[in-house]
Amino acid sequence: MSENLIEVRDLVVEYPGKGRRSAPLRVLKEVSLDIRPGECVGLVGESGSGKTTLGRAILGLAPVTGGQIRYRGQDIAHMHRSQRRAMGSEIQVVFQDPYTSLNPSMTIGDILAEPLTARRVPKAQARERVKELLDQVRLPSDALTRLPREFSGGQRQRVAIARALALEPSLIICDEPVSALDLSTQQRVLDLFVEIQERTGVAYLFITHDLAVVRNVSHRVAVLYRGDIVEWGDAAQVTSTPEHPYTQRLWMAAPVPDPDAQEVRRAQRLRLLAQQAELDEQAGAGAGADEALPRSA
Ligand SMILES: Nc1ncnc2c1ncn2[C@@H]1O[C@H](COP(=O)(O)OP(=O)(O)OP(=O)(O)O)[C@@H](O)[C@H]1O
Ligand SMILES: [Mg+2]
Repeated sequence: MSENLIEVRDLVVEYPGKGRRSAPLRVLKEVSLDIRPGECVGLVGESGSGKTTLGRAILGLAPVTGGQIRYRGQDIAHMHRSQRRAMGSEIQVVFQDPYTSLNPSMTIGDILAEPLTARRVPKAQARERVKELLDQVRLPSDALTRLPREFSGGQRQRVAIARALALEPSLIICDEPVSALDLSTQQRVLDLFVEIQERTGVAYLFITHDLAVVRNVSHRVAVLYRGDIVEWGDAAQVTSTPEHPYTQRLWMAAPVPDPDAQEVRRAQRLRLLAQQAELDEQAGAGAGADEALPRSA
């Protein structure tokens, strides 16, 4: 039995090309990483680098054309749908947008009870569990009878987290779960993620384009660039002294409060951008990514 919860090995994901004769779009190119039980692995990279696709592949929702994804040693990338359903609750997901991810016509109580009743948990037991879940995400118990629109973005994200936790998963794919929130709310929700992990031992694949966010919550970090992992290791090391020019560039794009430091950072960034442009030209790159620059650059 391996000590890893998830092992991704040489994973290739390809979408069919647009035209009849066009080559498939290779979105992930032999990606490998692993997640240990109770660990938070951060996954960073610019828009279009393939972060969501990797999360979807682990959830069984992306077309895997090569490599493996093992869950507790068992290959789940090529599993039959019915087998996949049988392990259903083990891997859950929290999405970016708290305004569209909750059914607007259901009360919070029903939203949280749904995964439980779908698994035939008896009503009384489900009610108890829902109360426990609200407590875990620090929402008041009167939230039960209210609708999603009566809550702020941060509170809705707490509901989404509670729903993901309902069936005691061992892994949650968190796809930009704080990106739509303002800064102070972001911090509180991040603290909640950390606290829940410490309490329940759930593992996270924490997807974000923001290195500052990832440093806050991750044990290890993988940096995805145009479908390749270009850097992978200890979170403190990757986020403070990145080795790959692309990670350095992502890091340079993060805002700095001090204007003088920001000026130095800008000069470094321009130098790196020039280097990267040269590398790209040499490699004939350009296909496969939506944007060549990190979002906040
Ligand atoms: N269903 C699909 N069909 C075809 N191409 C797709 C599909 N889903 C994603 N892609 C392409 O795969 C690439 C990676 O997309 P993905 O959504 O994984 O990026 P991302 O890193 O999550 O970006 P963002 O930060 O903007 O969310 C993009 O070029 C995208 O256009
Ligand atoms: Mg995405």
